[in-house]
Amino acid sequence: MPEISYCHPLSNLPLKSFPYRFVDPLSGDSFPVINGIPRFCPSENYSSSFGFQWNKFSSTQLDFYSGSDHSEQRFFSETGWDPGELSNCTVLEVGSGAGRFSEVFLRTTTGVLHSVDYSNAVEANRRNNSLYGERLQLSQASIYQLPFTDNTFDKVFCFGVLQHTPSFDESVAALIRKVRIGGEIVIDFYPIKGWYTKIHSKYLLRPITKRIPKPFLLQIIRLNIRLMLVLFDLLCRLRLGFLTRFIPITDVRGFPGSLTPAQRREWAVMDTFDAFTPEYDNPQRLKDVVRMFTSFGCEVTFAGLVTYPAGSSTVVRAVKRVG
Ligand SMILES: C[S@@+](CC[C@H](N)C(=O)[O-])C[C@H]1O[C@@H](n2cnc3c(N)ncnc32)[C@H](O)[C@@H]1O
Repeated sequence: MPEISYCHPLSNLPLKSFPYRFVDPLSGDSFPVINGIPRFCPSENYSSSFGFQWNKFSSTQLDFYSGSDHSEQRFFSETGWDPGELSNCTVLEVGSGAGRFSEVFLRTTTGVLHSVDYSNAVEANRRNNSLYGERLQLSQASIYQLPFTDNTFDKVFCFGVLQHTPSFDESVAALIRKVRIGGEIVIDFYPIKGWYTKIHSKYLLRPITKRIPKPFLLQIIRLNIRLMLVLFDLLCRLRLGFLTRFIPITDVRGFPGSLTPAQRREWAVMDTFDAFTPEYDNPQRLKDVVRMFTSFGCEVTFAGLVTYPAGSSTVVRAVKRVG
């Protein structure tokens, strides 16, 4: 593996070297290390609902738990990467959640992954992927203050995250800063499909639902999920799928077909909570995201819809050309 230089040399050293605090030798700043994970941001922040969610549903979407290859299909379809090539790369993941894509990377390659999340979802990632030892280097940090020097990584990926950050274009710029010239960035995001995109129960109800105490909201969703699923499935059977946007439940059509009814309910509860709680949800137009990448010195190599057996994502792949 190539040597890389960090603001903090931390990532090249065993985490157990820093049982309590990490002190940056350059700035003298000191950061707590909790459960072996250095924390470069306040423990409570706008992402806390994600931390709650991913620690409650740590394994739900992990391939080994769901018995599907959904995350693996999605990871390789979106990136177009080859596992063999990844084994020799230094890779950064931003916004790992419970680590479903970290797990795919670590299981299918022999590479080292530097993975960051702003919330304490990093705890769930650690539980899910601790068997990979020091091949997984976790930090709790914001995309805006990543604890790595610029122009470091061969590849950066960021899935399901950017629409949940306060400034989409600043987040894209932050990812690009960390990749080396000639390195590749792959992102996905919620697209604006038309004037109707925000006429959806999650956008209409979220100003209220995001203020409800998280355990209580989760309980409400759990109590109503069977009814919501019956309504959702009925509308789809009647070819009225476009009306499902008015039912306060996530779109379950993208779930793997291999889930048992109980797993499908668990996914539905989790994804509904995920839809109704984030502080930010800023869908984007594809052409605007392409413009962001080109204006930040990248060549866009792919922009569009990627489909895989259980769904589809709007993806941009780009290569950094200017430092
Ligand atoms: C919808 S989840 C996606 C998690 C994972 N990538 C997946 O697809 O399963 C979005 C994640 O982005 C993280 N996130 C939001 N804002 C962030 C920021 N400023 N910096 C780093 N991570 C952030 C959240 O904490 C959350 O875990």
